[in-house]
Amino acid sequence: MKKLIIKGGRELSGEIHIGGAKNSIVALIPASILTSGKCVIKNVPDISDVHALIEIMNELGSKVNYHDEIMEIDNSQVKNTLIAEEYTNKLRASYYFMASLLGKYKKADISYPGGCIIGSRPIDFTLNSFEKMGVSIKETHGHYSMKAKKLEGTEIFFDVPSVGATINCMITGVLAKGTTRILNAAREPEIVNVADFLISMGAKIKGAGTGTIEVTGVESLGDGEVTVIPDRIEAGTYVIIGALLGKNLKVSGIVEEHIKSLLYKLKEAGANYKIVGNSVVLNKSKHLKAINVKTTVYPGFPTDLGQPMSTFLTQCEGESIFEETIYENRLRHIPHLVSMGAHINTFDKKAVITGATKLHGTRVKATDLRAGASMLVAGLIADRVTSISNIEHLLRGYERIVDKLNGVGASIQFTDN
Ligand code: EPU
Repeated sequence: MKKLIIKGGRELSGEIHIGGAKNSIVALIPASILTSGKCVIKNVPDISDVHALIEIMNELGSKVNYHDEIMEIDNSQVKNTLIAEEYTNKLRASYYFMASLLGKYKKADISYPGGCIIGSRPIDFTLNSFEKMGVSIKETHGHYSMKAKKLEGTEIFFDVPSVGATINCMITGVLAKGTTRILNAAREPEIVNVADFLISMGAKIKGAGTGTIEVTGVESLGDGEVTVIPDRIEAGTYVIIGALLGKNLKVSGIVEEHIKSLLYKLKEAGANYKIVGNSVVLNKSKHLKAINVKTTVYPGFPTDLGQPMSTFLTQCEGESIFEETIYENRLRHIPHLVSMGAHINTFDKKAVITGATKLHGTRVKATDLRAGASMLVAGLIADRVTSISNIEHLLRGYERIVDKLNGVGASIQFTDN
């Protein structure tokens, strides 16, 4: 297990460029299975989840060529529709293969997906929707054997908007007979990115990015091409870091609209930034004041930025209330922040954070991906040295993190023990 060693307290200046979105690419790669044509995906981030998906693609018989942020995929030789558990348990997004294998081959053999342990993370919306579309599902100890004589479009309603279920139903609807209408669909930008990719292959999809998506089935698909949107969570994490340590720190390659909720909350706290084109330029503020932050679905404040934001709140004067509403287990990083000197009391999914407190470097753990981001922000602002263990989690979602941060003046390095 690798560790990240951070010597904190350094001002950061220069430019950090944002890579392609993890939560887009992890759906785009499986979605490509729908076509036997050639696919090109640009702006692919170099994160470990991408490499895990390439392994699965190779297992299925797909040919993937990935170099310099470009991925070329040739699925003409795909023969296999079974994915072993050792692959699926590496990441949540493995369950997008359920949708694309069903869509293309009308069968899929695949285990329950892995991913960060941040709550129960059921997949009932996806499974129920598949059944409504004509799929029969046999479950044995977390392994799903799925098959359908034919897929029929239908109307689907989600109790709460789910990113994964929305993408799964959209993918499955593309080659189904008739129209699939998804009501109370999730509206995250990654869903629009996936829809654009499918449309480039010849899919008929309307309404992606709104609460109602309509997919009209087509007979077959051709070549596909797409550019991965900038990662709004990577961008948000560096923006938070810039608000605490920036000296003209430029976070470039962002889509302002995608991080609006974060920018509003930072402004409310008194953060010092300006938007210049597709960049945010940040300077450390002399005084930050307490604010309340509640995570919710897009375009609300993203759950994936909640943990790094809670570190930011330790630097705000007064009592901030942070509330997580999507997952039941996304406060596991709080004891680690407390061990660094933060004053935080938790009640259920709420944390009351009293600041501003000086944080002190110590040994902490990345309990999941975004908990790792929270520890990273804490280590960068703390005095002394912070050692973060279980750093593999962080590498699933942040590309070239050491180079990017050291390039603007941070002092961080990996160690193997
Ligand atoms: N839900 C159900 N049943 C379902 C599906 C979801 O009850 O069948 C509930 C979940 O328990 C949760 C809520 O619906 O309370 C939303 O979950 P969603 O399905 O939207 O999450 P996801 O698709 O599993 C993706 C991202 C997460 C991100 C969430 C919310 C990927 C691979 N993962 O997860 O990203 O937190 O959407 O935006 O796209 C991360 O990047 O750190 C991460 C965890």
